[in-house]
Amino acid sequence: MTPRDYLPPTARHYETAVAQLPRLDGRTVAITGSTSGTGAVLARTAGRLGARLLLLNRPSDRAASSAAELERNGIDATQIDCDLQSFDSVRAGAAAALACTPAGIDVLCNNAGVMGLPDRATVDGCDIQMQTNHLSHFLLTSLLWPGLRRAASERGEARVVNHSSGARHGAALQARYLEHTGGQLGGDGFPGLAKWRRYQQSKLANLLFSYALSDRMPAEDRARGMKALAAHPGPTNSGLQAKTANAGGMRLLDRYILARTLKVAHAVEDGALGIIRASFDPDAQDGQFYGPAGRGEPGPAVLLPSERDAGAEKLLWDVSLHTTGVDDYWPRPDRPQSIERGQ
Ligand SMILES: NC(=O)c1ccc[n+]([C@@H]2O[C@H](COP(=O)([O-])OP(=O)(O)OC[C@H]3O[C@@H](n4cnc5c(N)ncnc54)[C@H](OP(=O)(O)O)[C@@H]3O)[C@@H](O)[C@H]2O)c1
Repeated sequence: MTPRDYLPPTARHYETAVAQLPRLDGRTVAITGSTSGTGAVLARTAGRLGARLLLLNRPSDRAASSAAELERNGIDATQIDCDLQSFDSVRAGAAAALACTPAGIDVLCNNAGVMGLPDRATVDGCDIQMQTNHLSHFLLTSLLWPGLRRAASERGEARVVNHSSGARHGAALQARYLEHTGGQLGGDGFPGLAKWRRYQQSKLANLLFSYALSDRMPAEDRARGMKALAAHPGPTNSGLQAKTANAGGMRLLDRYILARTLKVAHAVEDGALGIIRASFDPDAQDGQFYGPAGRGEPGPAVLLPSERDAGAEKLLWDVSLHTTGVDDYWPRPDRPQSIERGQ
Protein backbone atom coordinates (compact mmCIF):
# COMPACT_ATOMS: atom_id res chain seq x y z
CA MET A 1 0.00 0.00 0.00
CA THR A 2 1.15 3.56 -0.61
CA PRO A 3 0.41 6.46 1.77
CA ARG A 4 -2.39 7.58 -0.55
CA ASP A 5 -4.21 4.24 -0.15
CA TYR A 6 -5.05 4.85 3.50
CA LEU A 7 -8.50 6.36 3.93
CA PRO A 8 -8.44 9.52 6.06
CA PRO A 9 -9.92 8.75 9.49
CA THR A 10 -12.77 10.84 10.89
CA ALA A 11 -12.04 13.60 13.42
CA ARG A 12 -13.30 12.71 16.91
CA HIS A 13 -12.11 15.54 19.14
CA TYR A 14 -11.70 18.61 16.93
CA GLU A 15 -15.18 20.18 17.06
CA THR A 16 -15.51 19.82 20.83
CA ALA A 17 -12.09 21.38 21.43
CA VAL A 18 -12.60 24.27 19.01
CA ALA A 19 -16.04 25.07 20.46
CA GLN A 20 -14.27 25.97 23.73
CA LEU A 21 -11.93 28.54 22.17
CA PRO A 22 -12.51 32.30 22.31
CA ARG A 23 -13.07 34.50 19.23
CA LEU A 24 -9.89 35.88 17.64
CA ASP A 25 -11.26 39.07 16.07
CA GLY A 26 -8.56 41.73 15.82
CA ARG A 27 -5.76 39.15 16.14
CA THR A 28 -3.18 38.30 13.47
CA VAL A 29 -1.96 34.72 13.18
CA ALA A 30 1.12 33.86 11.10
CA ILE A 31 1.48 30.20 10.04
CA THR A 32 4.27 28.46 8.16
CA GLY A 33 3.16 25.60 5.91
CA SER A 34 -0.58 26.15 5.55
CA THR A 35 -1.04 24.46 2.16
CA SER A 36 -1.99 21.10 3.69
CA GLY A 37 -2.10 19.03 6.85
CA THR A 38 -2.12 20.54 10.32
CA GLY A 39 -1.18 24.03 9.07
CA ALA A 40 -4.21 24.11 6.78
CA VAL A 41 -6.46 23.08 9.70
CA LEU A 42 -4.91 25.75 11.95
CA ALA A 43 -5.50 28.37 9.24
CA ARG A 44 -9.16 27.34 8.75
CA THR A 45 -9.72 27.28 12.50
CA ALA A 46 -8.12 30.68 13.21
CA GLY A 47 -9.96 32.20 10.24
CA ARG A 48 -13.27 30.74 11.39
CA LEU A 49 -12.68 32.36 14.80
CA GLY A 50 -12.16 35.77 13.17
CA ALA A 51 -8.36 36.11 12.97
CA ARG A 52 -6.49 37.71 10.13
CA LEU A 53 -4.02 35.20 8.63
CA LEU A 54 -0.48 35.55 7.29
CA LEU A 55 0.28 32.40 5.31
CA LEU A 56 4.05 31.92 5.07
CA ASN A 57 4.47 29.38 2.29
CA ARG A 58 6.94 28.69 -0.48
CA PRO A 59 5.43 29.93 -3.75
CA SER A 60 3.39 27.22 -5.49
CA ASP A 61 -0.05 26.53 -6.95
CA ARG A 62 -0.84 24.83 -3.62
CA ALA A 63 -0.04 28.04 -1.74
CA ALA A 64 -2.11 30.17 -4.12
CA SER A 65 -5.13 27.87 -4.14
CA SER A 66 -5.18 27.30 -0.37
CA ALA A 67 -5.09 31.09 0.23
CA ALA A 68 -7.84 31.59 -2.38
CA GLU A 69 -10.00 28.93 -0.73
CA LEU A 70 -9.75 30.70 2.65
CA GLU A 71 -10.63 34.02 1.03
CA ARG A 72 -13.64 32.42 -0.70
CA ASN A 73 -14.83 31.50 2.78
CA GLY A 74 -14.65 35.11 3.91
CA ILE A 75 -11.32 34.77 5.76
CA ASP A 76 -8.77 37.60 5.61
CA ALA A 77 -5.68 35.70 4.41
CA THR A 78 -2.45 37.10 2.97
CA GLN A 79 0.01 34.77 1.22
CA ILE A 80 3.64 35.67 1.90
CA ASP A 81 6.40 33.94 -0.03
CA CYS A 82 8.73 32.23 2.43
CA ASP A 83 10.74 29.19 1.38
CA LEU A 84 12.20 27.65 4.50
CA GLN A 85 14.96 26.03 2.44
CA SER A 86 16.55 29.47 1.93
CA PHE A 87 17.58 31.95 4.63
CA ASP A 88 17.33 34.80 2.09
CA SER A 89 13.73 33.84 1.37
CA VAL A 90 12.98 33.76 5.11
CA ARG A 91 14.49 37.24 5.53
CA ALA A 92 12.41 38.58 2.62
CA GLY A 93 9.27 36.86 3.94
CA ALA A 94 9.78 38.29 7.43
CA ALA A 95 10.26 41.80 6.03
CA ALA A 96 7.02 41.45 4.00
CA ALA A 97 5.15 40.11 7.05
CA LEU A 98 6.28 42.99 9.28
CA ALA A 99 5.45 45.54 6.57
CA CYS A 100 1.81 44.45 6.41
CA THR A 101 1.23 44.09 10.17
CA PRO A 102 1.56 47.57 11.74
CA ALA A 103 -0.55 46.39 14.67
CA GLY A 104 1.72 43.40 15.28
CA ILE A 105 1.55 39.60 15.08
CA ASP A 106 -0.32 37.83 17.89
CA VAL A 107 0.67 34.24 17.10
CA LEU A 108 3.51 32.79 15.05
CA CYS A 109 2.98 29.08 14.51
CA ASN A 110 6.16 27.47 13.16
CA ASN A 111 4.29 24.49 11.76
CA ALA A 112 5.87 23.62 8.37
CA GLY A 113 7.94 20.50 8.09
CA VAL A 114 9.35 17.83 5.82
CA MET A 115 10.16 14.25 6.74
CA GLY A 116 12.48 11.50 5.58
CA LEU A 117 14.08 13.43 2.71
CA PRO A 118 17.40 12.46 1.10
CA ASP A 119 20.75 13.70 2.47
CA ARG A 120 20.97 16.94 0.49
CA ALA A 121 22.25 20.44 1.20
CA THR A 122 20.11 23.56 0.84
CA VAL A 123 21.43 26.67 -0.91
CA ASP A 124 22.77 27.66 2.52
CA GLY A 125 24.67 24.37 2.89
CA CYS A 126 22.48 22.99 5.70
CA ASP A 127 20.54 19.72 5.86
CA ILE A 128 17.18 20.06 4.06
CA GLN A 129 15.24 18.65 6.98
CA MET A 130 17.03 20.65 9.70
CA GLN A 131 16.86 23.94 7.79
CA THR A 132 13.18 23.56 6.85
CA ASN A 133 12.03 22.22 10.19
CA HIS A 134 14.15 24.18 12.65
CA LEU A 135 16.88 26.59 11.46
CA SER A 136 14.61 28.73 9.28
CA HIS A 137 11.98 28.86 12.04
CA PHE A 138 14.70 29.92 14.49
CA LEU A 139 15.65 32.77 12.11
CA LEU A 140 12.03 33.69 11.30
CA THR A 141 11.10 33.97 14.97
CA SER A 142 13.93 36.42 15.63
CA LEU A 143 13.02 38.52 12.58
CA LEU A 144 9.33 38.63 13.53
CA TRP A 145 10.02 39.33 17.21
CA PRO A 146 9.38 43.10 16.84
CA GLY A 147 5.91 42.30 15.42
CA LEU A 148 5.18 39.83 18.21
CA ARG A 149 6.40 42.38 20.76
CA ARG A 150 4.09 45.00 19.25
CA ALA A 151 1.07 42.71 19.59
CA ALA A 152 1.99 41.84 23.18
CA SER A 153 2.43 45.53 24.04
CA GLU A 154 -0.95 46.42 22.54
CA ARG A 155 -3.04 43.39 23.48
CA GLY A 156 -1.21 41.84 26.44
CA GLU A 157 -0.05 38.61 24.83
CA ALA A 158 1.83 37.10 21.89
CA ARG A 159 2.84 33.48 21.27
CA VAL A 160 5.40 31.48 19.32
CA VAL A 161 4.39 27.85 18.83
CA ASN A 162 6.77 25.22 17.43
CA HIS A 163 5.60 21.92 15.98
CA SER A 164 7.60 18.93 17.19
CA SER A 165 6.86 15.22 16.82
CA GLY A 166 6.76 11.89 18.64
CA ALA A 167 9.82 11.18 16.46
CA ARG A 168 11.88 13.54 18.68
CA HIS A 169 12.88 10.59 20.88
CA GLY A 170 15.83 8.30 20.25
CA ALA A 171 19.10 10.27 20.45
CA ALA A 172 20.56 13.38 22.10
CA LEU A 173 20.97 16.50 19.97
CA GLN A 174 24.26 16.66 18.07
CA ALA A 175 25.75 19.95 16.84
CA ARG A 176 26.71 18.62 13.42
CA TYR A 177 23.04 18.27 12.37
CA LEU A 178 22.62 22.04 12.94
CA GLU A 179 25.75 23.14 11.08
CA HIS A 180 26.54 23.67 7.40
CA THR A 181 26.78 19.91 6.89
CA GLY A 182 24.01 19.23 4.38
CA GLY A 183 24.76 16.13 2.31
CA GLN A 184 27.23 14.79 4.88
CA LEU A 185 24.80 13.41 7.46
CA GLY A 186 24.76 9.68 6.91
CA GLY A 187 23.79 9.57 3.22
CA ASP A 188 20.96 7.51 1.77
CA GLY A 189 22.55 4.09 1.67
CA PHE A 190 21.39 0.78 3.18
CA PRO A 191 19.61 0.31 5.56
CA GLY A 192 18.27 3.88 5.22
CA LEU A 193 18.13 4.82 8.89
CA ALA A 194 20.11 8.07 8.47
CA LYS A 195 17.15 10.03 6.99
CA TRP A 196 15.06 9.16 10.05
CA ARG A 197 17.87 10.24 12.38
CA ARG A 198 18.03 13.59 10.51
CA TYR A 199 14.26 13.96 11.00
CA GLN A 200 14.52 12.98 14.70
CA GLN A 201 17.20 15.62 15.28
CA SER A 202 15.09 18.34 13.61
CA LYS A 203 11.99 17.49 15.66
CA LEU A 204 13.98 17.36 18.89
CA ALA A 205 15.31 20.80 17.89
CA ASN A 206 11.70 22.11 17.64
CA LEU A 207 11.00 21.18 21.26
CA LEU A 208 14.36 22.36 22.61
CA PHE A 209 13.93 25.67 20.74
CA SER A 210 10.62 26.32 22.51
CA TYR A 211 12.18 25.84 25.94
CA ALA A 212 15.35 27.76 25.04
CA LEU A 213 13.24 30.66 23.73
CA SER A 214 11.12 30.65 26.86
CA ASP A 215 14.20 30.70 29.12
CA ARG A 216 16.12 33.35 27.18
CA MET A 217 13.49 35.91 26.20
CA PRO A 218 14.13 39.34 27.73
CA ALA A 219 12.38 39.93 31.06
CA GLU A 220 10.46 42.92 29.66
CA ASP A 221 9.06 40.77 26.85
CA ARG A 222 7.96 38.11 29.32
CA ALA A 223 6.30 40.88 31.33
CA ARG A 224 4.49 42.00 28.15
CA GLY A 225 2.94 38.52 27.94
CA MET A 226 5.15 36.88 25.31
CA LYS A 227 5.10 33.08 25.39
CA ALA A 228 6.97 30.22 23.73
CA LEU A 229 5.13 26.91 23.47
CA ALA A 230 5.45 23.58 21.71
CA ALA A 231 3.07 20.97 20.36
CA HIS A 232 3.15 17.64 18.57
CA PRO A 233 0.34 16.06 16.54
CA GLY A 234 0.82 12.34 17.13
CA PRO A 235 0.64 10.12 14.05
CA THR A 236 -1.60 12.05 11.68
CA ASN A 237 -2.93 11.27 8.23
CA SER A 238 -1.76 14.41 6.42
CA GLY A 239 0.16 15.19 3.26
CA LEU A 240 3.49 14.45 4.95
CA GLN A 241 3.81 10.73 4.31
CA ALA A 242 2.95 11.00 0.61
CA LYS A 243 5.65 13.66 0.21
CA THR A 244 8.24 11.34 1.78
CA ALA A 245 7.20 8.64 -0.67
CA ASN A 246 7.32 11.04 -3.61
CA ALA A 247 10.83 12.20 -2.67
CA GLY A 248 12.06 8.82 -3.92
CA GLY A 249 14.54 6.29 -2.56
CA MET A 250 11.84 4.49 -0.53
CA ARG A 251 13.26 1.38 1.07
CA LEU A 252 11.44 -1.48 2.74
CA LEU A 253 12.17 0.16 6.10
CA ASP A 254 10.60 3.47 4.96
CA ARG A 255 7.48 1.68 3.76
CA TYR A 256 7.23 -0.13 7.10
CA ILE A 257 7.61 3.14 9.08
CA LEU A 258 5.02 4.98 6.97
CA ALA A 259 2.55 2.09 6.94
CA ARG A 260 2.86 1.70 10.71
CA THR A 261 2.23 5.45 11.20
CA LEU A 262 -0.81 5.54 8.93
CA LYS A 263 -2.33 2.40 10.43
CA VAL A 264 -2.69 4.12 13.82
CA ALA A 265 -2.93 7.73 12.56
CA HIS A 266 -5.74 10.01 13.60
CA ALA A 267 -7.54 12.57 11.46
CA VAL A 268 -5.64 15.70 10.51
CA GLU A 269 -8.15 17.89 12.41
CA ASP A 270 -7.38 15.98 15.62
CA GLY A 271 -3.66 16.06 14.81
CA ALA A 272 -3.85 19.86 14.63
CA LEU A 273 -5.31 20.18 18.14
CA GLY A 274 -1.87 20.47 19.78
CA ILE A 275 -0.91 23.59 17.80
CA ILE A 276 -4.50 24.88 18.08
CA ARG A 277 -4.46 24.68 21.89
CA ALA A 278 -0.90 26.04 22.17
CA SER A 279 -1.83 28.93 19.85
CA PHE A 280 -5.30 29.88 21.16
CA ASP A 281 -6.20 28.22 24.46
CA PRO A 282 -6.58 31.12 26.90
CA ASP A 283 -5.11 28.96 29.71
CA ALA A 284 -1.91 28.04 27.84
CA GLN A 285 1.23 29.27 29.57
CA ASP A 286 4.77 30.06 28.50
CA GLY A 287 6.93 26.92 28.24
CA GLN A 288 4.04 24.45 27.88
CA PHE A 289 3.83 21.49 25.50
CA TYR A 290 0.55 20.17 24.04
CA GLY A 291 -0.25 16.98 22.18
CA PRO A 292 -1.86 13.57 22.44
CA ALA A 293 -0.83 11.66 25.56
CA GLY A 294 1.57 8.74 25.86
CA ARG A 295 3.71 8.17 22.79
CA GLY A 296 1.16 10.00 20.69
CA GLU A 297 -1.79 7.61 20.69
CA PRO A 298 -4.77 9.17 18.89
CA GLY A 299 -6.79 11.27 21.30
CA PRO A 300 -7.41 14.86 22.30
CA ALA A 301 -4.45 17.22 22.73
CA VAL A 302 -3.57 17.43 26.42
CA LEU A 303 -0.99 19.36 28.41
CA LEU A 304 2.15 17.17 28.42
CA PRO A 305 4.95 17.03 30.98
CA SER A 306 7.94 19.15 29.96
CA GLU A 307 11.14 17.47 28.81
CA ARG A 308 13.88 19.87 29.88
CA ASP A 309 17.58 19.48 29.14
CA ALA A 310 19.50 22.70 29.84
CA GLY A 311 22.70 21.45 28.17
CA ALA A 312 20.91 20.46 24.95
CA GLU A 313 18.96 23.74 24.92
CA LYS A 314 22.23 25.71 25.15
CA LEU A 315 23.80 23.64 22.39
CA LEU A 316 20.73 24.19 20.20
CA TRP A 317 20.72 27.92 20.85
CA ASP A 318 24.44 28.57 20.34
CA VAL A 319 24.81 26.50 17.17
CA SER A 320 21.56 27.82 15.65
CA LEU A 321 22.73 31.41 16.21
CA HIS A 322 25.99 30.64 14.49
CA THR A 323 24.49 28.81 11.51
CA THR A 324 21.77 31.38 10.81
CA GLY A 325 24.13 34.34 11.36
CA VAL A 326 21.83 36.00 13.93
CA ASP A 327 23.78 38.07 16.45
CA ASP A 328 20.97 40.07 18.02
CA TYR A 329 18.12 37.63 18.63
CA TRP A 330 15.72 40.19 20.09
CA PRO A 331 15.84 43.12 17.61
CA ARG A 332 14.20 46.35 18.72
CA PRO A 333 12.24 48.55 16.29
CA ASP A 334 15.02 51.16 16.49
CA ARG A 335 17.47 48.56 15.15
CA PRO A 336 15.74 47.25 12.01
CA GLN A 337 19.08 46.34 10.44
CA SER A 338 18.71 42.81 11.79
CA ILE A 339 16.45 42.03 8.81
CA GLU A 340 19.43 42.66 6.52
CA ARG A 341 22.00 40.92 8.68
CA GLY A 342 23.69 37.87 7.30
CA GLN A 343 22.87 38.50 3.64
N1 LIG B 1 1.70 13.96 10.00
C1 LIG B 1 2.31 13.40 11.05
O1 LIG B 1 2.11 12.22 11.36
C2 LIG B 1 3.23 14.23 11.89
C3 LIG B 1 3.75 13.65 13.04
C4 LIG B 1 4.60 14.39 13.83
C5 LIG B 1 4.92 15.69 13.50
N2 LIG B 1 4.40 16.25 12.38
C6 LIG B 1 4.78 17.64 12.07
O2 LIG B 1 3.64 18.40 11.76
C7 LIG B 1 4.01 19.50 10.93
C8 LIG B 1 3.02 19.60 9.78
O3 LIG B 1 3.12 18.44 9.00
P1 LIG B 1 1.88 17.79 8.26
O4 LIG B 1 1.75 16.40 8.77
O5 LIG B 1 0.71 18.69 8.30
O6 LIG B 1 2.49 17.65 6.79
P2 LIG B 1 2.09 18.33 5.39
O7 LIG B 1 0.65 18.13 5.10
O8 LIG B 1 3.09 17.80 4.41
O9 LIG B 1 2.34 19.88 5.64
C9 LIG B 1 3.64 20.41 5.69
C10 LIG B 1 3.59 21.87 5.31
O10 LIG B 1 4.95 22.37 5.32
C11 LIG B 1 5.15 23.08 4.12
N3 LIG B 1 6.55 23.13 3.71
C12 LIG B 1 7.36 22.10 3.40
N4 LIG B 1 8.56 22.57 2.97
C13 LIG B 1 8.50 23.91 3.03
C14 LIG B 1 9.40 24.96 2.71
N5 LIG B 1 10.62 24.71 2.23
N6 LIG B 1 9.00 26.24 2.89
C15 LIG B 1 7.76 26.51 3.34
N7 LIG B 1 6.84 25.57 3.66
C16 LIG B 1 7.22 24.29 3.50
C17 LIG B 1 4.33 22.35 3.11
O11 LIG B 1 4.14 23.18 1.98
P3 LIG B 1 4.29 22.68 0.45
O12 LIG B 1 2.89 22.55 -0.06
O13 LIG B 1 5.05 23.80 -0.21
O14 LIG B 1 5.06 21.39 0.46
C18 LIG B 1 3.06 22.11 3.90
O15 LIG B 1 2.24 23.25 3.88
C19 LIG B 1 5.45 19.23 10.48
O16 LIG B 1 6.34 20.04 11.22
C20 LIG B 1 5.66 17.77 10.84
O17 LIG B 1 7.01 17.46 11.14
C21 LIG B 1 3.57 15.54 11.56
